[in-house]
Amino acid sequence: MKAKIEFDGKFYEFPVTKGSEDEYAIDISTLRAQTGGLITLDRGFKNTGSCESAITFLNGEEGILRYRGYSIEDLAENASFLEVAYLLIFGELPSESELNKFYDDIKAESNVDEEMHKILDGFPKSAHPMGVVSSLTNALIAFNPSSVNVESKEDMYNAIIKLLAKFPVLCAWALRKRTGQPLDYGDDSLGYVENVLKMMFKKANQNYEVDPVIASALNKLLILHADHEQNCSTSTVRVVGSSHAGLFASISAGISALWGPLHGGANQAVIEMLEGIKEDGGDTKKYMQKAKDKEDPFRLMGFGHRVYKNFDPRARIIKKSADDVLGNLGVEDPILDIAKGLEKEALEDDYFVKRKLYPNVDFYSGIIYRALGIPTEMFTVMFALGRLPGWIAQWREMRLGKEPIGRPRQVYTGEKLRSYKPMDQR
Ligand code: CMC
Repeated sequence: MKAKIEFDGKFYEFPVTKGSEDEYAIDISTLRAQTGGLITLDRGFKNTGSCESAITFLNGEEGILRYRGYSIEDLAENASFLEVAYLLIFGELPSESELNKFYDDIKAESNVDEEMHKILDGFPKSAHPMGVVSSLTNALIAFNPSSVNVESKEDMYNAIIKLLAKFPVLCAWALRKRTGQPLDYGDDSLGYVENVLKMMFKKANQNYEVDPVIASALNKLLILHADHEQNCSTSTVRVVGSSHAGLFASISAGISALWGPLHGGANQAVIEMLEGIKEDGGDTKKYMQKAKDKEDPFRLMGFGHRVYKNFDPRARIIKKSADDVLGNLGVEDPILDIAKGLEKEALEDDYFVKRKLYPNVDFYSGIIYRALGIPTEMFTVMFALGRLPGWIAQWREMRLGKEPIGRPRQVYTGEKLRSYKPMDQR
């Protein structure tokens, strides 16, 4: 199959690639060479495939999300987060012994060098945990220099294991610093998710018993966030990694990309928005109007998605989970009612219907995090913790696929050649 482009009276032919779910792409790798300089312009990469990938399938029109062929609904219902991490990174669900070895390897690497404390100490208590976690992830390189040049599969495996082991410790430290608790390394006798909870919430002078309702809710949330193909942070990880910067540097860049309120930072922004509406008297109609007013920068946070134009399957699961978790924990949260009210109004409103704006994964996730006792500024860190295996899987695929360095072109719109003007002539 071929596609033809006509430019300046001439036709040029390009091969068309077909994915395993019958998606087509025009391969324009020879466009510049064939045409003598023509490039494509696609702001925000809305129509650009940056790679071929066998990790995650997403169909935004039909609301489908699958990791390595397994539906998100199936995995969220039945799998553990660690199994999903293994699946994303290595391509298949692990056998019992593979999973045990995977977790044993992680546990063996879960210590973080004591000197990392000093770096954490340098941050003010008020520092946003995403900045702290991104910086500490990068700082890990100094303590694990062998994880930078990952030329063999073995080097790659070791770097991956180290990151899966140490990253939750750093996330928990960011919270403990904020809440004034001494740093902790957790408890290897627990499962991965249970250990995350203990590292975050154990008080120095008290035992911490993991609540199975909380652990199961967190397990599900982490799975739902684990990968989402070529989104902003994942593309960042792949592009940074394509320069052969190491895994930790690439992930640190991905964390920074995730921080923004249009991406992962939306989960924090949603709760702040819902609290703002509550404090302002709970008038959802007023905020609907603001969201529709083009003169007003306000957007309904947690609504809309670059690829989902029908519904976000993760949001469906999370909405149900929010009801279950709050019910099981006996938590009543008035902002859940505001969220449901806003959703109902938006789904019946012409502006939102026409633009195909639906609640996304972040609309209800913050309500669950709140019910689990996680402070608002930590929400995006929880997203990062969930997304870590996806970023790793995408980075590994990119390196094993020997992809070239990511380097887009541009259309230059600046000044043409001009001569330097001495200061007294400006
Ligand atoms: N509230 C009000 N209007 C909106 C919203 C919103 N949340 N989202 C999009 N629109 C409007 C937008 O103004 C535009 O209108 P018009 O066609 O009249 O100019 C139209 O819908 C298309 O929006 P866009 O910004 O061109 O779409 P995009 O694909 O570039 O952006 C988005 C997608 C997610 C950045 C955007 O919908 C948004 O800002 N949503 C709020 C932030 C949010 O919840 N982000 C989390 C995304 S899901 C988690 C993740 O994977 O990161």
